Amino acid sequence: MPVLTQSQSPAGLKFGARRKTFDVENALAIDWHGGSAFVTAWFNSMSLLFPLGEKFFIDSVVYFQEEIEDPRLRDEIRSFRAQEATHRIQHQKYNELLCSLRGYSLERFEKNERARMAWAYRELPARRRLAGTVANEHLTAIMAHDMLSKNDVLIGADPAIASLWRWHGVEETEHKAVAFDVFIAVGGTVSERRQALLLNTFFFFKDTMRNLCIMLQKDGKLWSLREWANGFKYLFIKPGILRRVFRAWFSFFRKDFHPWQVDNRQLVREWEKEQPGSTTADAT
Ligand SMILES: [Fe+2]
Ligand SMILES: [Fe+2]
Repeated sequence: MPVLTQSQSPAGLKFGARRKTFDVENALAIDWHGGSAFVTAWFNSMSLLFPLGEKFFIDSVVYFQEEIEDPRLRDEIRSFRAQEATHRIQHQKYNELLCSLRGYSLERFEKNERARMAWAYRELPARRRLAGTVANEHLTAIMAHDMLSKNDVLIGADPAIASLWRWHGVEETEHKAVAFDVFIAVGGTVSERRQALLLNTFFFFKDTMRNLCIMLQKDGKLWSLREWANGFKYLFIKPGILRRVFRAWFSFFRKDFHPWQVDNRQLVREWEKEQPGSTTADAT
């Protein structure tokens, strides 16, 4: 019997976790993104979501591992797991340092997300949890694409922190279709993933803005009109990172959508060329 092809990744795509360290300690103590409290808090806020979020992504994909027949997709699941596990470790370190340096409470930041995940593990069927992961992977992939393809997203940012974000963006690009292909292989429907994108986009903004406000409040800048105007400009005008990803976000609603319809492997190759020393991922 022929082996089923369930991976829709481009031929020759290979990826794995890279062992990286980032010296972010000094910069995390300050407004590391060009001195902007809002933009710094926006990125810090996203980082705070990753350790719990990425555990959820791994669990929801690995749950279906045994149902996957295509050896290539099984390999990709292993690499996806290894990459997300490394991201969790780096962002956990980032988050702990950030909180201890700036006097924030990590527990408070994670409280809502932790409760919602517990609810999802308890109440949602496994395929719904996977649909949520597919939606979140779309969010991370489109933001990563924007960050890697334009040089204005991290302009003015501390170089060590910027390189952490770029590394994460590269690996999100490489594994952007793994959860999607597993979802299709186990019978996931278009309407399940559409609903999941709406819901997960809402919760992404809710959690990010909540944590951002907590940080600004602690820093005494919650009511600074200048910070909010600057933040609004960054998100929606110039560079306008959210405005720019809207079309890509919306493309997910197409019936025939697949993450590799945008073949952006070139961004990974360009990043690899800039890395000192090793240029290849350890396929795990
Ligand atoms: Fe990740
Ligand atoms: Fe991911």
